[in-house]
Amino acid sequence: MSNSEGLLSGKVAIISGAAGGVGIETSRVLAQAGARVMLADLATSKLDSVVEQLRGEGLDVAGQTVDIANEASVKALIQATLDKFGRLDILDNNAASQGQREDGVIGDMSVELWDHIMGVNARGAMLMCKHAIPALIAAGGGSIINISSGTSLAGDFYATAYACSKGAVNTLTKYVATQYAAQGIRCNALTLGLIGTPILKQAMPAPMLDIFTRHHMAGRIGEPADVANMVAFLVSDRSAWITGQVYSVDGGFYAHTPTTVQVTNLMAQG
Ligand SMILES: NC(=O)c1ccc[n+]([C@@H]2O[C@H](COP(=O)([O-])OP(=O)(O)OC[C@H]3O[C@@H](n4cnc5c(N)ncnc54)[C@H](O)[C@@H]3O)[C@@H](O)[C@H]2O)c1
Repeated sequence: MSNSEGLLSGKVAIISGAAGGVGIETSRVLAQAGARVMLADLATSKLDSVVEQLRGEGLDVAGQTVDIANEASVKALIQATLDKFGRLDILDNNAASQGQREDGVIGDMSVELWDHIMGVNARGAMLMCKHAIPALIAAGGGSIINISSGTSLAGDFYATAYACSKGAVNTLTKYVATQYAAQGIRCNALTLGLIGTPILKQAMPAPMLDIFTRHHMAGRIGEPADVANMVAFLVSDRSAWITGQVYSVDGGFYAHTPTTVQVTNLMAQG
């Protein structure tokens, strides 16, 4: 499919966290489907090399540094996108602060860490919606995707602030969908399972990876393309009647009873 006849041809997208593992692939898949894509990230030099890489693949992309936790920075991103591409149809809220070792149980929670994670993940997603919405309305409507996490769906001993921030993102999704449906804006969230980005594959010890793999019923952890393909569908006109939903994109991680894997292994032993 050439860019001129792609699923997303004529559309302009902003993808935050575009220098990260999922963001790079989502930028690539949306641009391959014909969208013109503004890649946005806090990590400027990484962002520059990703933009260069995707341009080298013949894709119509640009880059802009942003701190999504900062309102002035978010406003500047939306303006830069309008200046560069003339319109905005798609927002993929993909950037997040994650992976802090100190993000443990409530009794040890640092207020600074909590506020930082909430500031980026919850306030950042809200600010991006707030300032993108007028541009989406001006384009006749649009589609917002909020990238969330399966950690928001059940309790655990780690990533407490992160999981709570993603819970806020799930709820934000329904509020945006409700408040702006009449102006043609759709908003959906994706709760991801474990995605094998290069950073994750490098950082996660093999025994841990094995546990996670066994609990994804599909028999493997996710790839960035698994997320990107779902985003491409939900920002296209093929999903025109879908809004306000929180979808698991997780290979069945949350499809099963928590004890299933261990019980099945026990029964196999006879
Ligand atoms: N990888 C997984 O297993 C997994 C699982 C569940 C959910 N997710 C979610 O998927 C999304 C992408 O994750 P990833 O694995 O590609 O992460 P990543 O760390 O590779 O990428 C995240 C990007 O966000 C950017 N970022 C961080 N703070 C920012 C800020 N204040 N302003 C702008 N950009 C900022 C980082 O620079 C980075 O490039 C995140 O929302 C994450 O929470 C990932």
